[in-house]
Amino acid sequence: MTSTLGPPPPYYENRGFQPEPPYAARPAAGAHPYPQLFPTNPPSVPSYVPRVATHQSTRPAAPPPRRTCAASLRKTIIIILSILIVICCAIAAFFIWYFVENNCLSSLIECGSSGVCMPPSQWCDGVSDCPNGEDETRCVRLFGPNFILQVYSPVSKSWYPVCQDDWNDDYGKIACKDMGYSVDTYFYSRGVPDVSFKSYMKLNTSAGNIDLYKKLYSSGSCASGSVVSLRCIECGLASKSASIMNRIVGGSGAVLGQWPWQVSLHVQGTHVCGGSIITPHWLVTAAHCVEGRLSDPHSWRVYAGILNQDEMLFRSGYKVQLIISHPDYDTDSKDNDVALMKLETPLSFTENVRPVCLPNPGMMFQPNQQCWISGWGAEYQGGKTSNNLNYVAVPLIERSRCNAVYIYNGMILPTMICAGDLAGGIDSCQGDSGGPLVTHHHSVWWLVGDTSWGTGCATPNKPGVYGNMTVFTDWIYKNMQANR
Ligand code: ARG
Repeated sequence: MTSTLGPPPPYYENRGFQPEPPYAARPAAGAHPYPQLFPTNPPSVPSYVPRVATHQSTRPAAPPPRRTCAASLRKTIIIILSILIVICCAIAAFFIWYFVENNCLSSLIECGSSGVCMPPSQWCDGVSDCPNGEDETRCVRLFGPNFILQVYSPVSKSWYPVCQDDWNDDYGKIACKDMGYSVDTYFYSRGVPDVSFKSYMKLNTSAGNIDLYKKLYSSGSCASGSVVSLRCIECGLASKSASIMNRIVGGSGAVLGQWPWQVSLHVQGTHVCGGSIITPHWLVTAAHCVEGRLSDPHSWRVYAGILNQDEMLFRSGYKVQLIISHPDYDTDSKDNDVALMKLETPLSFTENVRPVCLPNPGMMFQPNQQCWISGWGAEYQGGKTSNNLNYVAVPLIERSRCNAVYIYNGMILPTMICAGDLAGGIDSCQGDSGGPLVTHHHSVWWLVGDTSWGTGCATPNKPGVYGNMTVFTDWIYKNMQANR
């Protein structure tokens, strides 16, 4: 583009066979239009006047110097006009790009991808201004293994913990609802001593009966010295603990209550995939399980709290109301291999049917963190699905290591996490997909991943690959919130 702004290219005139230009420079007003063809004094009697040829291959002998001047002026004008057109096109292209890519000017925030722009002051103020209320949906989160409640400040573009002073469960329920939980599952909120924070969100109790987020203001002090820890659902508890003995491939048969979040997903009376319970209404599974014709919720039946497949054949299972696949799921790379299923009727939680905790942002899993996988998948590569639920312990494998040339050679994307034994022998396999990869940390079980893919099963240097749940948590809450 810059080259069009340089000096105009040299112009060579070839007057040998040049046709009459269609828009010749106008002669000066009053000048005779055909000075070469008419005699200075017009004839007094009609006389033959040669016609003006429309295709004249030769010009009158001496080209007048005025025409050369007009021609070069015309060319200069054309060049300047061309440059101006190119500049205008470039500016127009920039604006089209800017408004397609980023609908809002820098000081504004776009409502989803609606093209509607809002100033930061209208975000998280308790008043829904965006067409779909996006300005109020992502203002709270739970952070780290202690479920520390944090509120987003759009003005400083950062998250603050909430000071426990004057906090109560009514506020906790509002925050949980805003994350997509139902008040029916509300567990508790309590203060946890923490002095590591410099700034807090504090409640202005004199503000009257207004929205929670309008009552919060940022403050450098917190009298109680405690921040709010919030549990929106009693998740991550198992009535039977995993015995660390070590079929899945190379695993053991599970007992009831050991993996109470594990569900079996059936199509036409056959186990197809696994899944994990996160609320009475919602399950997490893999996007590749619900691809194509399997994206129809009516195809599926969900079984919870049952260990053996043959037992499920006599039960009716739960119907599925809605399936949401991650919009960025990629069939080939298995990028974002996660999906949500919403049940028509809620599960009732028992000793053997319970939710697992979604990982909060800011959770630190160790590079070799011990995790467990469970499922009714094949017990060896090419085998048929298992009748009983199996489980096995698998350590996480660091992404950089799993991407080594001799392992998965760069195929492990940030939305994936590897787990297994590089020596082989233990692994998930066909039929385990969508099921849980969990870890026990701070006394609760966390959903670290969903079974996604692997080369063969339990092959040396080809560990299992799982969807990296931590990066999906936000997407999950957003969708639960939008489809309550
Ligand atoms: N894609 C498989 C399924 O649909 C899961 C494969 C897991 N493979 C592995 N080697 N870990 O069930």
